[in-house]
Amino acid sequence: EADLPLTFAFEQSAAPIDTVERARLLANPGFGRVFTDHMAIVRYNEQQGWHDAKICPRAAFQMDGASAVLHYAQEIFEGLKAYRLADGGTALFRPEANAKRFAESARRMAMVPLPEAIFLDSIRELVRVEKDWIPEIEGGSLYLRPFMIASEVFLGVKPSSEYIYAVIASSVGAYFKAGAGAVTLWVSQDYTRAAPGGTGAAKCGGNYASSLVAQAEATRQGCDQVLFLDAVERKWIEELGGMNIFFVMDDGSLVTPPLTGTILPGITRDSILTMARAQGLTVREEPYAIDQCRADAASGRLVEAFACGTAAVVAPIAEMKMKDGAFTIGSGGPGQTTVRIRDALTGIQFGKLPDPQGWLERL
Ligand code: PLP
Ligand code: COI
Repeated sequence: EADLPLTFAFEQSAAPIDTVERARLLANPGFGRVFTDHMAIVRYNEQQGWHDAKICPRAAFQMDGASAVLHYAQEIFEGLKAYRLADGGTALFRPEANAKRFAESARRMAMVPLPEAIFLDSIRELVRVEKDWIPEIEGGSLYLRPFMIASEVFLGVKPSSEYIYAVIASSVGAYFKAGAGAVTLWVSQDYTRAAPGGTGAAKCGGNYASSLVAQAEATRQGCDQVLFLDAVERKWIEELGGMNIFFVMDDGSLVTPPLTGTILPGITRDSILTMARAQGLTVREEPYAIDQCRADAASGRLVEAFACGTAAVVAPIAEMKMKDGAFTIGSGGPGQTTVRIRDALTGIQFGKLPDPQGWLERL
């Protein structure tokens, strides 16, 4: 590729957060509120291609009010984590899968795809600088948020000719306050997330903007997360606002909605499918209707459900609520298959279990 190799210049922060304050922040970081001292940036324009790669102090962006992203939302992002391993090392989990998905999201949004090697180098360089920001708490990690925005100053509706790619890093603990408990879902029957031919499979900011009103409804209904149904028949279970979903049947098989273009192809989803198949479990990627789900929960055929994603990891689902009532899944608490899958996944991510697929990248 013409843009490679690109070396990242390092500009050290002149005013890093001091170690005492950092220790205080890392003791209870929550999710997405604690940020590290540095960020990665790479710029693109048509004359220079990808250029000006650097790791620099995290600072506010200066943007012209006519920057394309502010109007037409040409924006994509990713989410992946760096882990402190049991042996003290640092590792990423399947970062090349995020690099690939980022390029695919870019293509869908008519953006210039970032070469995967530049994505990977930006993550590696930033984590090397910021690895002391990985919290020591149980389940703690450094959440990396790569993103790209259309930065051309122009109000015409067309793909931007300039982009800013950046990576920020956030020290995180559990995504849900409930921690290891089970979450409740509100089944959105008025709002859908993505239609066939739309942007559902891309990780673009617009998908999340449009989900917020449904998530707010879920919160009003006393639920943790919104569950979206398909946009055509309003019947088939798709995914949550920021997580994929799995079901565990009474015969031990796993069911998850297929990748039909309207849901995000989760890397956690793919990892769970791969691990389950390797263990000889029956897994089916097939449509599952909400009415069937409700009937199966009542009959005991459906015994567990869980949400999965980088931020949420594996979160047991206790209950679903919809306009005409609520129903409990299984015992209403974390089921044994869900817990086994979560432990198998985090065991690899934290370097406590063998990694037969070679998913961990040690830094
Ligand atoms: N679905 C949506 C809408 C998401 O935002 C995410 C989070 O990234 C996922 C699913 C899970 O994807 P992954 O497992 O790659 O984090
Ligand atoms: C992730 O799991 O990385 C996500 O992007 C979900 C969310 C925080 C939007």
